[in-house]
Amino acid sequence: MLDLLVKNASLPDGRQRMSIAVRDGLIVEVSPSLAAAAQQVIDAQGQLLSPPFVDAHFHMDATLSYGLPRVNQSGTLLEGIALWGELKPLLTQEALIERALAYCDWAVAKGLLAIRSHVDVCDPRLLAVEALLEVKRRVAPYIDLQLVAFPQDGALRGAQGPEQHMGNLKRALDRGVDVVGGIPHFERTMADGALSVKLLCELAAERGLRVDMHCDESDDPLSRHVETLAFETQRLGLQGRVTGSHLTSMHSMDNYYVSKLIPLMAEAQLQVVANPLINITLQGRHDTYPKRRGMTRVPELLAAGINVAFGHDCVMDPWYSLGSGDMLEVAQMGLHVAQMTSQSAMRQCFDAVTVTPARILGLQGYGLEVGCNADFVLLQARDPVEAIRLRATRLQVFRRGKLLAQTPAATSQLHLGGRPAQTSLML
Ligand code: FE2
Repeated sequence: MLDLLVKNASLPDGRQRMSIAVRDGLIVEVSPSLAAAAQQVIDAQGQLLSPPFVDAHFHMDATLSYGLPRVNQSGTLLEGIALWGELKPLLTQEALIERALAYCDWAVAKGLLAIRSHVDVCDPRLLAVEALLEVKRRVAPYIDLQLVAFPQDGALRGAQGPEQHMGNLKRALDRGVDVVGGIPHFERTMADGALSVKLLCELAAERGLRVDMHCDESDDPLSRHVETLAFETQRLGLQGRVTGSHLTSMHSMDNYYVSKLIPLMAEAQLQVVANPLINITLQGRHDTYPKRRGMTRVPELLAAGINVAFGHDCVMDPWYSLGSGDMLEVAQMGLHVAQMTSQSAMRQCFDAVTVTPARILGLQGYGLEVGCNADFVLLQARDPVEAIRLRATRLQVFRRGKLLAQTPAATSQLHLGGRPAQTSLML
């Protein structure tokens, strides 16, 4: 007897009328029109069944702090960083945990069941680290939360010398933070930036950890930290375990140089996370017109065989007043900014918030194959493109075969190009 049988589902790869059988929290069969006894049977009615959404880049220590202690009036990165500096001394562990847990509730409702969050380690109390380690323990039954030790103010830029923030970062790793972070473009000099990449990659290699750096999150066409990150990845044998986040400088780089850089990145099996909602709002702010978009070169990186995910980065925090934990909103923005409107590119945008970030996080048992965890989301859409177009309702969210969240279907005819049925038009 099966625990759960989902029938008549469309899958992201285009297969239709598929059945997925679940026993003991695992997928035990995937086949067309399976007939077997099960405790619970769900007729998907041709709707899309997807593995859960995964966010490869987030800041859970800052989320839902909008308005604390004041709002970002200009909406710029620099005012956001200043605001975070004002907020940090006011943070309490209890309030931080409460906000992070509230966000995790939003995430589950949206079928977002794995998140890689950076956590600022520059506070010597490591208050946010302790808080997010506690959140990680509490949400473990329903969200895979991976933490990155992130030296927001610069790994080597501590007022008391280079060991100050590096020491905090190492203590955060000692306490159980999973991944080594960095921010080389924010160090005092280009040379210090390169040195930080070297030291942080060496630290990850020593400890057998993954790396995920905010790297070249600027409009500077001459920034070269991506190159250094690829070099150190290869030198230290970290291939496939290092992620460059943002890489917005690549948008502005000389095309000839990029034609050398992308193959170097591919050779090092560097992984990339673009953050379209944030990159399109924060980059190009020194431009008049034409105004650069600032997102990294997603289609070109994908064409080189590099894993590129789209991250949410921020939700209602000092840097971004918007956001809702909806990875389909993230995919929709990425699709538009990168002009990924071909049929295959639109599907790549769906992958960029599901299977690709799962690979970057190194999630075990992710997917809709036999033997994978029975984690999936039933969407009110027929395929990935429609899911992105409608930011489709998450009808049901399952983890290990158990229902975690459900939302009533939107009574709309938008699938056929009509208006929402619950809306009255006074024409
Ligand atoms: Fe970030």
